[in-house]
Amino acid sequence: MRPLPLLLLLLLLLFSGCDAAAPPADTLFQLPAPRNLKVHLYNAQQALSWEPVSLHNDTRPVVYQVQYKYSTSSTWYDVNKKDSRVDCTNLTGTECNFTANSLLEGFPRHFNISLRVRAKLGDLVSAWVKAPWFEHYRNATIGPPEDIWVTPEEGSLIIRFSSPFDVPASVAFFLYYVYYWEKAGIKQVTRPFRSNFITLNDLKPLRVYCFQVKAELFLAKENISRPGHLSNISCSETTVDASTKLQQVILISMGTFLLLSVVVGACLFLVLKYRGLVKYWFHSPPSIPSQIEEYLKDPAQPILDALDKDSSPKDDAWDSVSVVSFPENKQEDIRQSTLNQSTDPSHQPVEGGP
Ligand SMILES: *[C@@H]1O[C@H](CO)[C@@H](O)[C@H](O)[C@H]1NC(C)=O
Ligand SMILES: *[C@@H]1O[C@H](CO)[C@@H](O)[C@H](O)[C@H]1NC(C)=O
Ligand SMILES: *[C@@H]1O[C@H](CO)[C@@H](O)[C@H](O)[C@H]1NC(C)=O
Ligand SMILES: *[C@@H]1O[C@H](CO)[C@@H](O)[C@H](O)[C@H]1NC(C)=O
Ligand SMILES: *[C@@H]1O[C@H](CO)[C@@H](O)[C@H](O)[C@H]1NC(C)=O
Ligand SMILES: *[C@@H]1O[C@H](CO)[C@@H](O)[C@H](O)[C@H]1NC(C)=O
Ligand SMILES: *[C@@H]1O[C@H](CO)[C@@H](O)[C@H](O)[C@H]1NC(C)=O
Repeated sequence: MRPLPLLLLLLLLLFSGCDAAAPPADTLFQLPAPRNLKVHLYNAQQALSWEPVSLHNDTRPVVYQVQYKYSTSSTWYDVNKKDSRVDCTNLTGTECNFTANSLLEGFPRHFNISLRVRAKLGDLVSAWVKAPWFEHYRNATIGPPEDIWVTPEEGSLIIRFSSPFDVPASVAFFLYYVYYWEKAGIKQVTRPFRSNFITLNDLKPLRVYCFQVKAELFLAKENISRPGHLSNISCSETTVDASTKLQQVILISMGTFLLLSVVVGACLFLVLKYRGLVKYWFHSPPSIPSQIEEYLKDPAQPILDALDKDSSPKDDAWDSVSVVSFPENKQEDIRQSTLNQSTDPSHQPVEGGP
């Protein structure tokens, strides 16, 4: 009967021992650790960022502490004014910018760097969280070349730019590529070149060409390269070269001269051919020939007819029209009136008087 309680006691001790062993890991770090660490390496910039730690039952601000270490050493160092010229020991923000101003070089770019961060609140601290190691030249994102200038020339474009960032020639160098194409044409790429300018030759004059520039970083001593991002698309129109310009000028002059000659010749010819007519036109007074005048008067009749319709009786209208329009009728009327006069009895004494 005795061995069973002893066994139970042993088991109890074993389990309670396990329970007792767990707490220290929790109690050591009273704060949650920062999460989602990101190493930001763009051109010459170096920064570390993370997600903020939030506490529900404390209104005091959480601060963060950043440390670094080289792969060659086993000690971690604070990122402070003394070592790094930037202080990230009591940060209230969630970013440590190692190149916060242009004077700061950041960590040596060919060193293998490790970074870690923890949260602090009064005496409480979180566990350290490590970011992946990095070597700037190995890991950095290379931006496009900057300050791109293009000079259009005779059937070519000269493209100048500055490097994405400065690198010591003994350590690393950039090679550049230019992608270019005629509007709606096929993309072409130059051979890699080291200078900060290039002339795109053998382009067609007076055409719009678009291009993008890209840098690639090469390490001098190691077989490492980092391709860069393409610049925004720029477009430029090539100018016309001198000989083509001259040709155009000659062609235009000749064309103008020929056109003028034709016009002048035609005028001369016409003047010579219709010399009589021209003379007549220039010397006769400006009057309309009688036949045309008559023709012009004839179609006017219906209009006069319509005008008179409302105001006066038809017979009168016909009379008045016939009288106004036709000189022959007038003559007839006159003749008729003289006839009437002659046959009029009232006039008879006058007629046959003397
Ligand atoms: C509240 O804060 C205290 C320390 O200030 C901490 O011990 C405790 O775990 C916190 N409670 C919660 C629910 O976060
Ligand atoms: C950089 O250091 C880490 C350890 O700190 C190591 O794992 C890694 O291989 C090193 N990288 C290089 C390129 O040496
Ligand atoms: C940062 O805060 C700690 C306490 O958490 C303090 O001892 C230290 O002096 C502070 N450092 C700076 C630079 O303010
Ligand atoms: C770091 O500071 C520099 C200089 O002010 C700025 O250009 C860069 O954007 C900053 N980097 C980050 C990740 O905020
Ligand atoms: C840097 O690049 C290496 C591989 O070349 C990779 O293992 C490492 O995680 C990178 N570091 C960062 C911070 O991205
Ligand atoms: C350099 O690396 C590339 C791949 O990144 C490889 O194809 C080439 O053979 C390497 N050259 C040398 C000299 O190691
Ligand atoms: C490139 O284009 C993007 C959007 O089109 C713009 O936000 C950016 O400022 C441009 N970059 C340069 C260097 O002009």
